Amino acid sequence: MKKFSVVIAGGGSTYTPEIILMLLDNLDRLPLRCIKLYDNDEERQNKVAKACEILIHDIDPTIEYCATTDPEVAYTDVDFCLAHIRVGQLPMRELDEKISIKHGVVGQETCGPGGIAYGMRSIGGVLENIDYMEKYSPNCWMLNYSNPAAIVAEATRRLRPNSRVINICDMPIGMENTIARILGFNNRKEMDVRYFGLNHFGWWSSIKDKQGNEYLPKLIEHQLKYGNCEAEDKVENYTDASWFETAREVKDLVRFDKNFAPNSYLKYYLNGDQVMAHTNPNYTRANEVMDGREKRVFEECARIAEKGTSEGTTLEIGIHASFIVDLATALAFNTHERMLLIVENNGAIANFSPDAMVEIPCIVGKDGYEPLSIGNIPTFQKGLMEQQVAVEKLVVDAWIEHSYEKLWQALILSHTVPNANTAKALLDDLIEANKGYWPELH
Ligand code: NAD
Ligand code: G6P
Ligand code: MN
Repeated sequence: MKKFSVVIAGGGSTYTPEIILMLLDNLDRLPLRCIKLYDNDEERQNKVAKACEILIHDIDPTIEYCATTDPEVAYTDVDFCLAHIRVGQLPMRELDEKISIKHGVVGQETCGPGGIAYGMRSIGGVLENIDYMEKYSPNCWMLNYSNPAAIVAEATRRLRPNSRVINICDMPIGMENTIARILGFNNRKEMDVRYFGLNHFGWWSSIKDKQGNEYLPKLIEHQLKYGNCEAEDKVENYTDASWFETAREVKDLVRFDKNFAPNSYLKYYLNGDQVMAHTNPNYTRANEVMDGREKRVFEECARIAEKGTSEGTTLEIGIHASFIVDLATALAFNTHERMLLIVENNGAIANFSPDAMVEIPCIVGKDGYEPLSIGNIPTFQKGLMEQQVAVEKLVVDAWIEHSYEKLWQALILSHTVPNANTAKALLDDLIEANKGYWPELH
């Protein structure tokens, strides 16, 4: 069987070790001959690089490995690029969140002003990586989950329309794991789902078993009582309390439309007042991640590097990340697996702009993806999506045209921002904080 070569872009990410473990756990499905890490910050990548080498060596010493900051080395002779870069890293995420909160608006990584600011940083970094890929391995596929995925996807659609990039998010997968448990399935793959929306902004419209029986009403009945928590669920079942909150708050999102199961990220747009009431402006999710996941992962990687063995490691396979292997396998072996991807609408949602990037089920095979037809969506969801997709398009316009006005409009249109004056004050603070990362606006 053919063996593949992959590069992980954003090699210094806190997710890299768990993704490597996941790749190693799936070698029977996706055989590998080479794994490379690529980052533009050598010092950060070195925090995980040695441990990753040991993890790979302990499981399959025949797999070649290197960690590099040289794009040519990274992108030469690769079949798949797994891209998860964070331009500006976690300290800039912290600023995105805290600047938003200072203006009375939800402070979130990908939603609202935080996501807009992050989008303005990410576009250039992702395009740069696509260009390296096309230069050194023109047949490579980039599986991109660098955030904010919605804005990045719109930028790739506009600026690299013919590139082999597939934009994807793990949120529906994570939520489907929970939904499967709630509904009594052993595995999310026992469910056939229909879903429509934008990234971090969508709804399940059907969940069927393999016999074709519909489970959505049963799920919604459960969600109205417990959200996405199992009845007996405890905070301890989640790595962080804030993710438990997000699962629980799904119950506040089904109240106003009992026909669809919402993506939990809709809370940032629709229940921002509740989110703000539980927010500590001095200690946001970025702080939790830096003091939690980042510290845990880097300390464990240092321990492995020092001992020279991965035996007894606390690092775990990234179960959520299994979609990466599913997607790569579908492309490599033409499996025609049905997956939710972020793709150009192009008529799939009949009553929605053809040029919007939407998150919908697609069939994935050797030549890429074929979106399923969704039909018409209801007025409420359509209205919300039109507003949000306009925000995402205006951010990309602003990045291309270096336009202050377009970015101001994006902020005004965001459902999270109350008025134009607040949008302007936010914009001025974000420009100051993002000097060197954003194009200069005028
Ligand atoms: P992180 O800051 O720990 O790691 C990101 C790495 O990217 C850093 O080491 C940084 O130096 C590197 N980087 C930045 N710009 C780069 C460039 N131009 N070229 C190469 N490398 C570059 O971040 P993290 O918390 O591990 O998250 C990584 C990314 O994955 C983020 O964008 C995050 O939002 C995203 N993510 C997405 C999903 C999804 O479902 N779509 C899920 C999890 C994480
Ligand atoms: C989910 C989303 C990602 C997001 C991540 C943030 O997985 O799909 O897009 O980046 O959550 O998680 P964090 O633990 O960093 O807050
Ligand atoms: Mn996501």
